[in-house]
Amino acid sequence: MSDNHLDFIDDVIRFLENEREIYGDFTVAGFSPGDKNDTSVSDSQEKIKTESPSADTKNYNPENLLKQCSTLEELRSLCETADVLRTDLDGTNLVFGVGNQNADLMLIGEAPGEQEDRQGEPFVGAAGQLLNKILEAVKFRREDVYIANILKHRPPGNRNPNPEERQRSLPYLLRQIELIQPKLILCLGKISGITLLNRDTTLRSLRGKYYPFHGAELTVTYHPAALLRHPKWKRPVWEDVQKLREKYDELGGKP
Ligand code: URA
Repeated sequence: MSDNHLDFIDDVIRFLENEREIYGDFTVAGFSPGDKNDTSVSDSQEKIKTESPSADTKNYNPENLLKQCSTLEELRSLCETADVLRTDLDGTNLVFGVGNQNADLMLIGEAPGEQEDRQGEPFVGAAGQLLNKILEAVKFRREDVYIANILKHRPPGNRNPNPEERQRSLPYLLRQIELIQPKLILCLGKISGITLLNRDTTLRSLRGKYYPFHGAELTVTYHPAALLRHPKWKRPVWEDVQKLREKYDELGGKP
């Protein structure tokens, strides 16, 4: 890893730390109990549903409806009305996914935070800014890749998506992957990796490897928000994304 790149990521982290001092604290995925995203929301304003959405959607099987979606637009429309995708936080917006529909690289995070919910787009908060810089460092532009999350709605208090929510959302994400047909998938964070690979293990044991996944090769690295709290992970992330770039070129990803 070049010192320039380390310095560059240091600058980004410092910038975000300054922002935090100015605009208030934001929490970081995976490092604060029950809190996964990078927002500074005042949770007291959140309206939590008293009934879990799972109560009326337990036996819901979207397979046929999903098969009928032959474009991302159709899938988005289906998601707009799919209550199964909701968490127990009331009034959230759909955060479907963003980017190039023909992308050879797809990035999958965990769940939208406050900024993402507001703007209806994944990774637009502090973690998103860092993610953009990390992508640029290995010559990917945000608009050339496709970015989505395991959950398409924000969980209350930015808590971790629970296993039941992840399972309810998974068929929709799998259809999205089938429609995009990426050559490579990068999971951002443990929740994303363990959900797609369907195994319960540590991020450390998942990263650094490539797994065949629905016609693509899938790999896992630390969530960018994790780097804001744990700068020691920037080196493994840098190694992971450099390998990702090599793999992308090797697989004939679009320049
Ligand atoms: N963290 C995520 O995992 N996804 C987002 O969209 C934003 C923050």
